[in-house]
Amino acid sequence: MSHPFDTLQQEQLRHADSLKWTTHPADILPLWIADMDFPPSEALLAALKARLDRGIGYYHAADPALRAQLQAVLAGRGMQDVPADGILFLPSVVPGLYAAVAALTQPGEDVLSVLPIYPPFHQAILEQGRHIQGVALREGPERWELDWEALEAAVTPRTRLLMLCHPHNPTGRVWTSEELGRLREFAVRHDLYVCSDELHADLIYAGSPAFESFAADPAVAGRTVTLIGPCKTYNVAGLSIGALVSHDPALAQRVRSVAGGLMGHPSALSVTSWQVALREGGEWLAETLAYLQANRDYVADFVAARLPGAQMHSPEATYLAWINLGPERKQAGEWLLREAKVALNAGPLFMPANQAPEWDSFVRLNFATSRSILTEALERVERALR
Ligand SMILES: Cc1ncc(COP(=O)(O)O)c(C=O)c1O
Repeated sequence: MSHPFDTLQQEQLRHADSLKWTTHPADILPLWIADMDFPPSEALLAALKARLDRGIGYYHAADPALRAQLQAVLAGRGMQDVPADGILFLPSVVPGLYAAVAALTQPGEDVLSVLPIYPPFHQAILEQGRHIQGVALREGPERWELDWEALEAAVTPRTRLLMLCHPHNPTGRVWTSEELGRLREFAVRHDLYVCSDELHADLIYAGSPAFESFAADPAVAGRTVTLIGPCKTYNVAGLSIGALVSHDPALAQRVRSVAGGLMGHPSALSVTSWQVALREGGEWLAETLAYLQANRDYVADFVAARLPGAQMHSPEATYLAWINLGPERKQAGEWLLREAKVALNAGPLFMPANQAPEWDSFVRLNFATSRSILTEALERVERALR
């Protein structure tokens, strides 16, 4: 049976201010930046329209209703008893990454992150005069894995902070309970703060490890700030909102206030969208996840069967596929843009510049689009590779 998302048309997606669809010329199919081509739920759109009828002056930015909803969401992820004042709103999630680095480390100190990593992680570290201790993930037989020896070796007397992406962008790993346990023990033993970006936490596929927050264990709750937001789950990136969460309100406040008055606050519409999404978005999310999971399996099968030399591990979460086109394929992202007319994110973006060439053959593909657009994009890649 056909699904409403099957009917998406390129003409309708390529509207004037879509970053994804207008950055490249019209003959390029864009499967790069991480938003979905799907419309948000009807309930969410209706609530936004209704919100405009109430006037849009200053509003209660520290919205108590939304905080209570988020406390329930967090409890479901193992973060019990987060105090209301341990939830502070952000104008979006990326400022939380920058604030964590600025508040929890000094210039010249070391920050740990696995690589590859969502670019604002390494940018927040390097642009603010800190050193990145980047530890490459190891490719296991089934999935990308943490390299425990390399993590231990990367710690220096100047290491203050571990930046965690959970689930991980770009590989789609959901760190298991066992991995989280080892990471927690590691953070305590080395006396590290932890910033855990959990923005993709609701996009977990059936059969993947159950999602558990890094801060779910009291042993690390007081040294962790967790970043959350609705934009990936409910496809509202243009509305811009996030939250910084800690069991220790003083730690949350320290991070939130490091930028002083520069931080700003989220918009009234974004608060409404998050409230409504949490209250009424369950069915839309379940249907969207089912569509995404079918797309994920389609991509994995296509890569294995029809893209000679290419490899990927199926993401356990997120709508992103981290694909290696093969060690011979230099500048894979640029090559695909030129030869296949498909825009993906080039692998080196996910590394600090000095490690970028090692990941030249990787690309990140966003499969949150209609099956027909996805198929056309993959067939273009197939023709270019053959
Ligand atoms: C892990 C992660 N954090 C943060 C963001 C961006 O969040 P925001 O748009 O709310 O700043 C993204 C977007 O792709 C992401 O994947």
